[in-house]
Amino acid sequence: MADAPKIAFGAFVAPAKGVWVVFCDEGLKFGAATAKALGAAAGLVARAAKAEQLTGKSGSSLNLIVPAGLKVDRLTVIGVGKPGELKQKDVVKLGGIALGKLPKGVGDLTVFADLPGKTMSAAQAADLAQGMQLRGYVFDRYKTKRKEAEPGPVKQSVTIAVADAAAARKAFAGPSAIAGGVLMARDLVNEPANVLYPEEFARRAMALKKVGVTIEVLNVAQMKKLGMGALLGVGQGSTRESRVVVMRWNGGKKNDAPLAFVGKGVCFDTGGISIKGAAGMEDMKGDMAGAACVVGLMQALAARKAKVNAVGVIGCVENMPDGNAQRPGDIVTSMSGQTIEIINTDAEGRLVLADVLWYTNKRFKPKFMINLATLTGAIMVALGQEYAGMFTNNDELSHRLHLVGEETGELVWRMPLSPAYDKMIDSKFADMKNTGGTRWGGAITAAQFIQRFVDNKPWVHLDIAGTGFDSRQSDINKSWGSGWGVRLLDRLVADYYEK
Ligand code: BES
Ligand code: MN
Ligand code: ZN
Repeated sequence: MADAPKIAFGAFVAPAKGVWVVFCDEGLKFGAATAKALGAAAGLVARAAKAEQLTGKSGSSLNLIVPAGLKVDRLTVIGVGKPGELKQKDVVKLGGIALGKLPKGVGDLTVFADLPGKTMSAAQAADLAQGMQLRGYVFDRYKTKRKEAEPGPVKQSVTIAVADAAAARKAFAGPSAIAGGVLMARDLVNEPANVLYPEEFARRAMALKKVGVTIEVLNVAQMKKLGMGALLGVGQGSTRESRVVVMRWNGGKKNDAPLAFVGKGVCFDTGGISIKGAAGMEDMKGDMAGAACVVGLMQALAARKAKVNAVGVIGCVENMPDGNAQRPGDIVTSMSGQTIEIINTDAEGRLVLADVLWYTNKRFKPKFMINLATLTGAIMVALGQEYAGMFTNNDELSHRLHLVGEETGELVWRMPLSPAYDKMIDSKFADMKNTGGTRWGGAITAAQFIQRFVDNKPWVHLDIAGTGFDSRQSDINKSWGSGWGVRLLDRLVADYYEK
């Protein structure tokens, strides 16, 4: 698994070296434990705050270098606004901001989990720590000429001072398991496609055995037997063989139908014969972000022993142009029996999902299916990089995902599905074609296509083309591959399906 800073929990003792981070509110007030540890230096901080016009508002901060009377090299005061209004995601973010205060990412950091009015709870201290894990992630596996002071989690030592260190350590198990899943997903997305091809992806998923997930891998012969003509057509132009990986976590009641999570795992998308332009094509190594999220989610659920039955299924292929590649005009038969005319070989994600969703539904009879896919450029035109597109046939799931999106900061926005779009994917020769013919409503026609393979099961399609990679950098993510969706879906499970 990915490196992350080692985080310890300790008592409220003024640190003797490194960077010390403390929080203040809008009135520039400190918590009691902080004020006590600062001692006489509190006056110095008050003067500096005035001189720097520190507001104490959320996001404001102040640095004191070699502060007189303290042993640390640097004291950083971070404003939190109104402590009573801090939501969980704000505390996670504070952890990220705090870790970011380590100059060049190297050295010792001590953070006081203390607010005016009250010290932070053990759970809040654990959330701070999660924010640090997320922020501390660096993908530098392929940097052989590392600069001396370049950030690297191994060079960080972090202590969170908290009222009850033992309780915080215990409370950290869950948040840390979730962060582990996010980092695993980021690693997968960041890996280049010469390293992470379908077979290797399946091998990496095997690591989940360690946390008690059962894994099965379907090879090409098995997929042929199942009739997965849509998925196999996409992979046939590649020398790398396609794979479907099935991951199962049974933490719930024996006969409870599982929740199903399905991911698009296009390890590289050249577009195939309908080849993409050269500009930015390297980003298509991340076209497996949906599958990466599913693996990270299963890892997180198992690592925190979620009381739920869940199945993760990913379709891993490589979309390449080649003498054996699929052509525009080809007609393939999907596992469902429905035939598809290929108009554009670059609309490959929906073909993969068509078979994987059908297979998942038939085999596992899940409560619902949620799929994630970097499916269309059109969703980025519609929503940019802030929200993922959500398409669903189920209002309850829509509502729940909206709420957990707000809670975690991984936002989703519902987009329409309607039979009115169906005529756009009618084919002259087959049951349907794989593109809408025009670019209009491109994310919707893609969703409408996928819906034909879910057999009316409660289902959600999350189009994460804008959020899965190269997305907005934040206080808890400095990585290209974002690991988007792990925290969202973990929270969905925790809030609604573990009761
Ligand atoms: N993987 C791409 C979508 C994508 C583009 C994701 C940019 C992330 C960033 C997908 O397979 C694709 O090529 N979609 C086409 C569909 C079109 C041919 C109907 C698109 O969006 O242009
Ligand atoms: Mn494509
Ligand atoms: Zn693609």
